[in-house]
Formats: sequence, structure tokens, C-alpha cells
Amino acid sequence: MLLLTTIAAVRARREEVSWTGMRVAFVPTMGALHEGHLALVRRGLARADEVWASVFVNPTQFSPHEDFSSYPRDLERDRAALEREGAALLFAPSTREMYPRPPATAVDVAGLTSGLCGLHRPGHFRGVALVVAKLLNIVQPQVALFGAKDWQQATVIRRLVEDLNIPTRIEVLVTVREDDGLALSSRNAYLGAEERLAARVLWRSLQAAAGAARAGERRGTALEAVLAREVGREPLAGLQYAAAVDPDTLQPLESIERRVLLALAVIVGSTRLIDNLLVEGL
Ligand code: PAJ
Repeated sequence: MLLLTTIAAVRARREEVSWTGMRVAFVPTMGALHEGHLALVRRGLARADEVWASVFVNPTQFSPHEDFSSYPRDLERDRAALEREGAALLFAPSTREMYPRPPATAVDVAGLTSGLCGLHRPGHFRGVALVVAKLLNIVQPQVALFGAKDWQQATVIRRLVEDLNIPTRIEVLVTVREDDGLALSSRNAYLGAEERLAARVLWRSLQAAAGAARAGERRGTALEAVLAREVGREPLAGLQYAAAVDPDTLQPLESIERRVLLALAVIVGSTRLIDNLLVEGL
């Protein structure tokens, strides 16, 4: 597997690969790789001739008080994991390489970024949209893979790619979970033993609200109340938001017809965790 750290080197390799007619699938990450990331790599291998991944902890998507400096970083471990999965290339640029000077250009995907995580992490999706636009322009993959765990992020990226005519197909994969339902996340590493147990409350709450929807509850606010009530039962957890929204527009659903996205952000100890569940066929 090639490990490249400069944009120029990635562009040169892309040019070579283009001549062979090989297709490239791309998996952008912030590292601290887990089975969720690796599932994206495996799907990429089924979709293209080569999988290229990136590891870049993107400073522009963190607010000043957030965990940019403490975010887990272990490039050697990530490199080995990607190599084992059969990735062909890892792009691991420095901050200076990606942002030689403060960017003057903003990529603002309006509407989709105003609610849910956007409300609690101002500027976050601008940072995500900017870095993903840059990465897609650098790598120019035929397909890029994202996880449904970050549903709002995937929705924002789909729209960005559509609006800017970026010639990459976006594919979104189901969330990979631990046996007890906890969604895999690089941030789970922050949880102490008690907090890890408390973190089960996210999946439990989503299940409870999905159960209510399947049992006939059609009011979005009532489903949100179920989510909030379940989170409220866990003393180590604090609710940031509980939402029942349209899976495509991310707007709150007053009355649910066939599908609803249940979404949660919960602070466990001092770790912010998100999760969601798409309930269909109602
Ligand atoms: P990161 O959190 O490292 O996630 C990289 C990709 O892995 C994202 O598409 C995310 O949705 C997916 N992922 C994370 N946990 C998952 C799980 N349990 N199951 C399936 N997929 C999962 O998301 C980012 O990085 C960044 O915002 C990025 C898009 C790289 C831009 O900086």
C-alpha cells in the first residue's frame, strides 16, 4: 500500500491509474480506524479496482472548545489496518498541506445543516463540506463511501456533490455496531468502563422509539418524547437532542407517513455520542 502525504503525489498517482482504466473507490476518515471504517473499505473493494483512503483530522470541522487536539491519532496502526484490508493507497496529509493558508472559500450547504448536529456544532458542517470537496477534487474517485452513522453528514455530502457537479457517486453504508448495539465510533475510546455501559442508552432509546412508531405512533413529537424519556433514565447521560425527522430533508416530521429518521446526540460523561435509526415501511 502506498502512503502519500502530498496532494501533488496523489494527483500524480491518480493520473497514472486513470490511464489503466482502473476505478477508484475512496474512503475519507479522521483515523482511529475501527470496523465501521473497514466495512467502508471492503465495500469499496466490491465497487472499484482500488480503494484509496485518507486519514486527516480536519481542524476546520472542530469548534475551538472541541476535541481536535485530543482526537485519537495512531497513523501506524491505521496504515496497518488499511493494508490488511487491501487498500491500495493511504493519503495522510498534514494540516499545512491541506490548508497552506486559511481558506477564503466556504462550502455552505444551506438548510440541511441548520438542525440536529448543525444546531449544536456551529460551523461543523462547513468544515466537513470544505474538506470533503477538497478531498474529492484531489482524489477524483468514481465512488466515495460514507457511513449512515453520520446521517446528516452523508446527506450534506450528497447534496454538495449534486450541487457542485462533482463526478463521484456517493454510497452510504449501514452503521456497524457492537453486540450491545453501540455504534462504533473513534470517540468510544474516550469512555470509561461505567460510561461504556451507560452508552448503551442510545441504542436502547432508538429501539424504544422505533417500537412506538411500529406500534402506530405517528406524532413526531411523541417519538421524540420516547427518545428523551429513555435517555433520561440513564444517570450518566445528558440529552443534547432527540429528533424525528424526514430522512431526506432532515426537517422535523409532525406526522409520520412511511418513514422516519430517529436521531440522537447524547453526552455520556464528557463524551458526545450520536446515533440514528431509519424506520421504514410504516
Ligand atoms: P470519521 O468519523 O473518521 O468517519 C469516517 C467515515 O466512517 C464516515 O463516513 C463515517 O460515517 C463512517 N463511520 C463512522 N462510524 C461508523 C460506523 N459505526 N459504521 C459505519 N460507518 C461509520 O466522518 C468523518 O470522519 C469526517 O467528518 C470526514 C468525512 C472524514 C471529513 O473530515
